[in-house]
Amino acid sequence: MWLVTGASGGLGQALVGEVLSAGERVIAVTRDDEPLQPLTAASPGRLRTVSVDITDAGTLRPVLDDAITGFGRLDVVVNNAGYALAGPFEELDDAELRAQFEVNFFAAANVLRAALPHLRVAKAGRVLQISSLAGQIGAPGMSAYTASKHALEGLSVSLAAELAPLGIRTTIVEPGAARTGFRADWAGRLPGSAPLPDYLHVHEALARSAGAAAKQAGEPARMAQALVILADMPSPPLRLPLGSDAVTGIGNARSGQLEELRRFATLSASTDHTKAI
Ligand SMILES: NC(=O)c1ccc[n+]([C@@H]2O[C@H](COP(=O)([O-])OP(=O)(O)OC[C@H]3O[C@@H](n4cnc5c(N)ncnc54)[C@H](OP(=O)(O)O)[C@@H]3O)[C@@H](O)[C@H]2O)c1
Repeated sequence: MWLVTGASGGLGQALVGEVLSAGERVIAVTRDDEPLQPLTAASPGRLRTVSVDITDAGTLRPVLDDAITGFGRLDVVVNNAGYALAGPFEELDDAELRAQFEVNFFAAANVLRAALPHLRVAKAGRVLQISSLAGQIGAPGMSAYTASKHALEGLSVSLAAELAPLGIRTTIVEPGAARTGFRADWAGRLPGSAPLPDYLHVHEALARSAGAAAKQAGEPARMAQALVILADMPSPPLRLPLGSDAVTGIGNARSGQLEELRRFATLSASTDHTKAI
């Protein structure tokens, strides 16, 4: 049985459809279950939608406990809900930055707190953390989003090591750009009034990127298929980029980081004590 957050559209909805096609059962956590009604009708008893605010830990835990207990088991948890707060860092206010972390980081933590006790009892299960190419790189105008996804990745790397001995495997999924409502959503959130003149080029680049939403390489249905394959792997990877742009972008970032590590290694190592203790 799967639990998928952010299920009303985009990758989440595609994943719910793919999991149902594979004959499995799903708890779909969403703010709006209306787009899922056709899937509910087509899969009697196999899709349960849960409308709850994932940022409210106190409400979420009992609701998820009920839903999981109702299905009798839990096999795969997918923290997929997320959005991007775009804009130059200096133009973002503190409340917006914290709200970004509430959804992309703390809500995922809330879901894990509710789900992990069930996986630990079973001594099995999969955790799929939907991060992003932005969980590995940075870009102008994306400081809030990249920070939230880096935080999710940091939690997940340590969590993976904690959970592996308990039989629970964790994979960080890093999609590249995909054709979903994601970019239209963040375009709508761009700071509208009086951009700082020094950052006009950042606004222009963000607007171009948002406008190219329909040209993104990533196909949500194919990404969903890859996630179903991933969940069946006996030895899943710690990280799985999705899309050729994610593979190239992460590869370039890691090569650059390694090159820089080597270039400054002498200065880095010069801070050691000169005498062994
Ligand atoms: N599309 C891309 O280019 C891309 C690239 C890299 C990573 N990603 C990641 O992939 C995941 C899925 O995104 P998507 O592309 O499918 O985008 P999407 O179509 O916008 O769907 C994201 C879902 O997240 C939930 N969500 C959004 N804002 C929320 C909020 N403020 N509070 C609670 N839930 C919220 C919504 O689900 P409900 O309405 O059901 O609550 C929404 O349907 C996200 O984590 C995103 O960061 C996307």
